[in-house]
Amino acid sequence: MKKKWWMESFGYQIYIKSFYDTNSDGIGDLEGVYQKLDYLYELGVNLIWLVPFYQSPMDDNGYDVSDFYEVASEYGTLETFKKVLDKANKLNIRVIIDLILNHTSDEHYWFQESRKSLDNPYREYYIWEPPRIIDGQEYEPTNWSSFFGGSCWKKDEITGYYFMKIFSDKMPDLNWKSENVRKEMIKMAKWWLDMGISGFRIDAASHLARAPFVDSKMTKDRYVPDFSKYSNLPMVHEYLKMLDDEVFSKYDIMTVGEVGGGASVESGLRYASKDYGQLDMVFNFDHNWCTKKVNGKEVTDVIKLKYVFRKWIYGFKGKGWNPLYWLNHDHPRVMSMYGDLNYFEKSAKMLANTLYFVKGTPFIYQGEEIGMTNYPFTKLSEFRDVSTINHIKLDLKNQPGVTEAEAVKWHVEHSRDHARIPMQWNSLKNAGFTTGTPWINVHPNYKDINVESQMKDLNSIWHHYKNIINLKLHSKYREVLIYGDFEIVDYHNPHNFSYIRRLKDEAILVVNSFSNQNRRFMLSKLDGYEFGEIIFSNYQDSHISPKSIPLRPYEAVVLSLKLTK
Ligand code: GLC
Ligand code: CA
Repeated sequence: MKKKWWMESFGYQIYIKSFYDTNSDGIGDLEGVYQKLDYLYELGVNLIWLVPFYQSPMDDNGYDVSDFYEVASEYGTLETFKKVLDKANKLNIRVIIDLILNHTSDEHYWFQESRKSLDNPYREYYIWEPPRIIDGQEYEPTNWSSFFGGSCWKKDEITGYYFMKIFSDKMPDLNWKSENVRKEMIKMAKWWLDMGISGFRIDAASHLARAPFVDSKMTKDRYVPDFSKYSNLPMVHEYLKMLDDEVFSKYDIMTVGEVGGGASVESGLRYASKDYGQLDMVFNFDHNWCTKKVNGKEVTDVIKLKYVFRKWIYGFKGKGWNPLYWLNHDHPRVMSMYGDLNYFEKSAKMLANTLYFVKGTPFIYQGEEIGMTNYPFTKLSEFRDVSTINHIKLDLKNQPGVTEAEAVKWHVEHSRDHARIPMQWNSLKNAGFTTGTPWINVHPNYKDINVESQMKDLNSIWHHYKNIINLKLHSKYREVLIYGDFEIVDYHNPHNFSYIRRLKDEAILVVNSFSNQNRRFMLSKLDGYEFGEIIFSNYQDSHISPKSIPLRPYEAVVLSLKLTK
């Protein structure tokens, strides 16, 4: 594959609202991003993804856009954004932003017009359907559910029609069949690219087309979570192809589309293969929930994790490129998912080694570089995420006798708010995130887990991340770590995730123990290699013997290999 700048990038995702607040209103802002660019530079990343900062009523923290050409007032102004962009570029940090194509806010001008009457010129911008009447009873146009709970339709009283909304009630879906919608989106994307951004993360990229409006087979629930009715349908590719032809291909940018759960490698390749893809990369979610129950406890399913990586990285070999990430703003913290809090530092470093030497473009999620963990939510009032809140409320409404504590328990594990708690900068009040009242609670562990203390400690998780970035981007192993082939070894071993990166005669072995016991990695698992030298490890005294590598709990070792054939 042709080399591209974004293959040589190390990304970092910023959830602005929780990153850094500079005016004490308790809400992170663009000025906060600006002030922390030096921090990111020091960490070593050369690409940032900023989540939406468009004008928005913030029902879904900015994914509900009411004006694509304005900046949300709580985040700053267009000038603040330009300042961020300018400084980032000076530091050789590229900036990508979210491109939201599937929906707008119901407060967007288009929707305000659209709802007014059946013949409003903006009516066709959204997906409207009349109610269904069955035996004199009124029903939604289909029985499909939305991602955020309940029906994917909402009735608008003005015309009595239903509009489609696969996310929250305040996020009507755009109608991509409308040429006017497509034209508006082309214009908007160009406007941001012309300002000098380096690309887009394309939100909900797989949902732009819908199946015919026919009911899904009933389950016991009134609304069926049949997401295939609005995911990965053939027309999506036509729309994205049009965007690529008209916009993306005209700039030296990168695009990474969110295709979420349910996308197969084949459909991933339809989005993002070098020959007929429309995007440069796609984010899938397959590796986000690789756990299994053992003795009533949720533990990491290491084989499943390997299976997923094998599937996607092998599937894209020679045809496309993958992004690498443990979590984004929609997922729990990786430390609480796959880490071991009894071996906090070791397991956090091991997880970083496991992921970031795989072939692909890494995206660190804010706070991951210090090992931030899930928040101990117990009450409905502690949540801020519209999706979690909806789901808990629906359970309370639909299941008589259920207590709040029970409903919280069902949804806490998957809540998107774990990722959204404030960044832990130091041990001062509110973890140094704000001097005001934070919009969402700060994790009580911030005195132990924060950026300032880890930056001072050369042995910290933070420095481990910095070293990984350095090794990947600036060391003599750069080429093999970026472009080398990826092959999993010792596949059936449930205790380690190990792989080889190979470029011509150069080979690197990456061994990661997921076990809290002492284990060994055997040379006999390799064919045609001997161990070379240790390059990098999460223990200061890792060692290798000729035939095996002893692994202490969560030991992670990167070493060179010598070729024997
Ligand atoms: C994507 C975003 C998520 C948002 C949704 C609707 O999945 O990552 O945060 O709620 O799209 O825009
Ligand atoms: Ca603020």
